[in-house]
Amino acid sequence: LGLADEGRRRIDWAAQQMPVLASVEQRFARDQPLAGMRIGACLHVTTETANLVRVLRRGGAEIRLAASNPLSTQDDVAAAIVQDLHVPVFAIKGEDTATYYRHIGQVLACRPHITLDDGADLTCAVHAEHPDLFDEIFGGTEETTTGLVRLRAMAASGALRYPIIAVNDALSKHLFDNRYGTGQSTIDGILRSTNTLLAGKTFVVAGYGWCSRGIAARARGMGAIVLVTEVDPLRALEATMDGHRVLPMLEAAALGDVFVTATGDARVLDRQHFERMKDGAILANAGHFNVEIHLPALQEMAVEIRQPRPSVEQFVLADGRRLNLLAQGRLINLSAAEGHPSAVMDMSFANQALSVAFLARKGKSLAPAVHPVPPEIDAEVAQRKLEAMEIRIDQLTSEQQKYRTSWKVGT
Ligand code: ADE
Repeated sequence: LGLADEGRRRIDWAAQQMPVLASVEQRFARDQPLAGMRIGACLHVTTETANLVRVLRRGGAEIRLAASNPLSTQDDVAAAIVQDLHVPVFAIKGEDTATYYRHIGQVLACRPHITLDDGADLTCAVHAEHPDLFDEIFGGTEETTTGLVRLRAMAASGALRYPIIAVNDALSKHLFDNRYGTGQSTIDGILRSTNTLLAGKTFVVAGYGWCSRGIAARARGMGAIVLVTEVDPLRALEATMDGHRVLPMLEAAALGDVFVTATGDARVLDRQHFERMKDGAILANAGHFNVEIHLPALQEMAVEIRQPRPSVEQFVLADGRRLNLLAQGRLINLSAAEGHPSAVMDMSFANQALSVAFLARKGKSLAPAVHPVPPEIDAEVAQRKLEAMEIRIDQLTSEQQKYRTSWKVGT
């Protein structure tokens, strides 16, 4: 709790960049849409999350919070949430796996009506270990691509027992958070941990989803030569026509100075790639889980492991080459930097807050499936962000409206 003052100052700083969430807060304070609701949240404990927690509290909810990654917790923020918002937080940066899951259990002990998740660990814990909670749970939300992949697999196998709102899939979320948020914060994490120069470097991005697109664009903007690896033909074509060179990872492995994985899959960088990499290569992961860079192979191949800087482990191989792993292969942007900037989390978390209110309104009426964010919420978030940025746009004239809805006028 001694860190709470520092956390509060940083939370207030972030709030200045979150005007859409602030407008939701005003409405929640007035309407109390979450009165009597118990919310269990598993999110990265950051200044932006603290602002979301405050808004949910103002809407009348009782909340417990655990971390969604063992390395992403900002301890000063955790302290400020406890002290100022009176919300129990179960998270400490660097917690081990057993502690991480124990903390999730402590969140579930409040018997939530609604779960907020980032990566689906909380929702999976309910399904695997706490089926007694199904009676009380109305539904949940999911923040990430990876979490939705897991939850859709649960739904497809008939295991999903309560409705989930796919916050990640809102356009006003992933087009901004995943692309510009991950793009900037991944570069931020690499620079904070290594202080390396990107100009002129060969920068390999694994995957070309929304996160990878943002990373590739920002790396190019810093003057790097970007190579992309993919398994999906359409995405590979898109990367090519965005001007990046696409090639298999086995070939890219020998060329890269910096490697970033953001595929959502496992063993994207493995022994056969480490065997070909250049001395001094930098390896970072921007995907949700720490499975993309196969750490056991790297550990087996190393004759020595050094720690030259706080977020860098240097694996010295038998032939003398040094491979530099950042943030233990965990989410680089949240482990070695502060996650996405507040201005994009503003939209993501406005979607979260409004989706929670939607779930509270719907009660038990939604089917146990993965549901989209209601389109009117998505549109409202985009509209409010534009207004906050003082950007005005044109309106269709009545002739244009008519033209759009008529099929008769051609050449
Ligand atoms: N995910 C990515 N960036 C984040 C942030 N700043 N806060 C919470 N969750 C995040």
